[in-house]
Amino acid sequence: MTTASLVNTAISVLRGNDTGVFTKPGPHQYPHQWNWDSALIALGLSHFDLPRAQSEIRALLSGQWQDGMLPSVVYHSIPSDYFPTPQFWQIENSPHAPRVPTTGITQPPLLATVVNIIHTRLPIPDFIREVYPALLRWHRWLHTARDADGTGLACIIHPWESGTDDSPRWLGLLAAMRPEAVPEFLRGDTRYVPAIERPNREEYERFIYLIDVFRKLKYAPAELLAHSPFLVQDILFNAILLRADEDLRTLAVSLGQPTNEIDGWLKSMRLNFNTRFWDESTGLYYDYDVRAGKPIRVNTASTFLPLFAGLPSKTQSERLVEEHLLNPNEYAPAGEVRHWVTTTARTEPTWEARRYWRGPVWIIMNWFLMEGLQRYGYDDLAEIIRQDTLDLIETAGFREYYDARDGSGCGSVDFSWSAALALELSMAPAGHSSR
Ligand code: DGY
Repeated sequence: MTTASLVNTAISVLRGNDTGVFTKPGPHQYPHQWNWDSALIALGLSHFDLPRAQSEIRALLSGQWQDGMLPSVVYHSIPSDYFPTPQFWQIENSPHAPRVPTTGITQPPLLATVVNIIHTRLPIPDFIREVYPALLRWHRWLHTARDADGTGLACIIHPWESGTDDSPRWLGLLAAMRPEAVPEFLRGDTRYVPAIERPNREEYERFIYLIDVFRKLKYAPAELLAHSPFLVQDILFNAILLRADEDLRTLAVSLGQPTNEIDGWLKSMRLNFNTRFWDESTGLYYDYDVRAGKPIRVNTASTFLPLFAGLPSKTQSERLVEEHLLNPNEYAPAGEVRHWVTTTARTEPTWEARRYWRGPVWIIMNWFLMEGLQRYGYDDLAEIIRQDTLDLIETAGFREYYDARDGSGCGSVDFSWSAALALELSMAPAGHSSR
């Protein structure tokens, strides 16, 4: 496929998933508006339709809760066969719920970064002035309502908030839960995608059990921190948050707004991130189980996310890249594995080639990785991963994720963020770096 035809096909995927108000992440599997999908979709749209990129972001912000929380999904009253239904969340029991139907949990805060990238390339000062207060309120909520220990690091309360739902890093915590009762439900996610590519029943039941706990607590933030059976500081989420705080600060400066509050968050996160997550003995970052007070010692590609936020020292970055990313037993293509980069180190017993976040290649993870590698001067390696990512898309189409062995597609077809990132990887000015 030529670059021109890849670009045209990517645009037609985004146009095909466009409802006129928001863009579905996938035509059948994900028929509503997802938070971090939407940020990447806006980035993709900005390459060919800037007004539409802005209305995508406005549509997402229309679901913001009154306390600042930006939910993982905004349903927009569009009928669908998706489960959980909007009614299942019972958000009307929270005094903070918005008027539009949404979930009661959040997702990785990528939006400020995307807004800043777009603004750097195609200045949109009026739009920045319009959305900045909502972004600030969301970040403030993350740094207060989700700060369990005064570190400034945000906690997640559900694997869905990590965006990497059934990642092996959550499996031990989910298995240790003993739900007394799980509400009746009928899964919708295996209707369009083979069960082998989706979370197992045991994990899915606990996802639903957690929602039941939260709705009984009426989504009161302090209650959730006190009682959620799942309370984690996630490396990926916090690296994205820190980078997004930096980007939010850049937006504040461009608007002449005070930065002291954001500076405080940045200071606290920079002080605590490496101490909390870095493991000197293995040269890896590990997530932290706040409820149990201990690290979650599972090696997944989230360990590379701090590179995206500029957090590792030079020595730490060298250890991440040389001991792990380039290690043919863990992440580097070798043997039957031909593509960058598996979401879990292949040394982990929970690695599975086709199951959702347990092993396949995700375009978003490759993009984070490329951005991080460039930040640390590994331009050649970033370029190898960029080429491999585009090859995967050209061969298997815009799929949700890919089997790293043969490059075949898995999950949803016509997946919007794969199309959006294909545009970013082939059209971003000055190579593909956003910094
Ligand atoms: C799903 O339905 O699988 C989503 O990831 C939950 O947000």
